[in-house]
Amino acid sequence: MRRMAQVGSVGLSLLAGCMGAMGGMNGSPPVVVRAPTDAPWEVARAPDTNAAPTIVEVTLEARPAQVALLDGRLTTLWTYNGVLPGPLIEANVGDEVIVHFTNRLPEDTTIHWHGVRLPVEMDGIENRVPPGGSFDYRFTARDAGMFWYHPHVRSEAQVGHGLYGVLRVNGPLDAGLPAGKPVVLSDALVDAQGGLTTASGMMTQMTGVEGNLLLVNGVVRPTLNVRAGEKVRLQLVNAAVSRYFRLSLPGHLLTLVGEDGAWLERPAPVQELLLVPGQRADVVIEATGSPGSELDLQSLAYDRGHSAGSNEPANLLHLRYSSQPGISTPALPATLATIPALAGASASRTIRLGESMGMGSTTFTINGQSYPNVPLISSKRLREETWDIVNESPMDHPFHLHGFFFQVVTVGSKPVGHAGWRDTVNVPSNTTVRIKVLLDGFPGRWMYHCHILGHAEGGMMAELQVDP
Ligand code: C2O
Ligand code: CU
Repeated sequence: MRRMAQVGSVGLSLLAGCMGAMGGMNGSPPVVVRAPTDAPWEVARAPDTNAAPTIVEVTLEARPAQVALLDGRLTTLWTYNGVLPGPLIEANVGDEVIVHFTNRLPEDTTIHWHGVRLPVEMDGIENRVPPGGSFDYRFTARDAGMFWYHPHVRSEAQVGHGLYGVLRVNGPLDAGLPAGKPVVLSDALVDAQGGLTTASGMMTQMTGVEGNLLLVNGVVRPTLNVRAGEKVRLQLVNAAVSRYFRLSLPGHLLTLVGEDGAWLERPAPVQELLLVPGQRADVVIEATGSPGSELDLQSLAYDRGHSAGSNEPANLLHLRYSSQPGISTPALPATLATIPALAGASASRTIRLGESMGMGSTTFTINGQSYPNVPLISSKRLREETWDIVNESPMDHPFHLHGFFFQVVTVGSKPVGHAGWRDTVNVPSNTTVRIKVLLDGFPGRWMYHCHILGHAEGGMMAELQVDP
């Protein structure tokens, strides 16, 4: 019944004519349906204050700020530099990145550089920054791709309050592709006045918090103007704390060129794309529609277990074709990268993801224990390992490993159709995903966890010790 109360509280003007499209599943609040907007939706940029061509030096401040999420209503969020998403940090492969960070929040925080291979003391796990404190993050951008940053302290609450931003590292391949547009997908739970609220209760604790506003670079249903024949490249990031986005653009293929921080071997056209929390997808859309037509990039129904997720398509991003005649654009390169096949022979491990219902709450486990009691895995740099991630629960879990990339071999009995590198993979309920991990990164103690952030905090988190 909480759900009905929420529908009523969102405000009649927003809901006029769309009651039929409101029903969420039990665990998820109904999504606010809204007309497309022409409001600007480009991500803000962090100015590079260093004149040296191979050093990117920026300032980030975590602070409360008021952001317009719904017309006429300001929502108080926690932001990086006052904007949602946080500003884009842009570098080239090989650049040194220096981030002067200050915490203006009322509690400790850190910045974790999701997917970036960097020294462990820069990973945002140690070195908590207290209120009023500062920390300089410094690392070399080794890999081209789209990465993102977010706190690793009380992450469900802090990310849910708006703390997330993107780091784009450009490589030589980018020159042969259309210019990418960073597109950060997330959600927020707001009340009728635009105030950020939070859901609680057993069901939410089990499924993770989902919002009632679907945000694309912080805007509800922005408009992307396209011309027929054009190739539009979107660098998608799922920064939501729990929400899965199952993306589809009716009548169009989505051509994947990269996922997480890496290129695919060759472009892979797909009908739809499941982007789970933490993942990125670099996608080229060939605008094959007719001049003057309009449609939406949608998130389709997806049940991620315990009736969480959405049960009807929701419009995320509105595409509007200009009435100008179509143009022709060069084909994408046939091959993008060479992906070495991994032997994965130095160790075989089994990582069992579980959940158990206790008195009033759900406990999340890895190999039967909750963080920090999960036994440490130990290995050595440059090893290639095979991990079977066995999901023994009735809910999907997005599995994320810090500091290294892996290749997904099979999902259940199905081989993965294309070769690529990932740092986050969905492990469907009651299914085993086999990955091959290449420990080519820095030594240290690295986290791995479910990227439904409430699950990670509920215990589905553990550590991997990598010795030099
Ligand atoms: Cu993006 Cu440990 O997380
Ligand atoms: Cu999970």
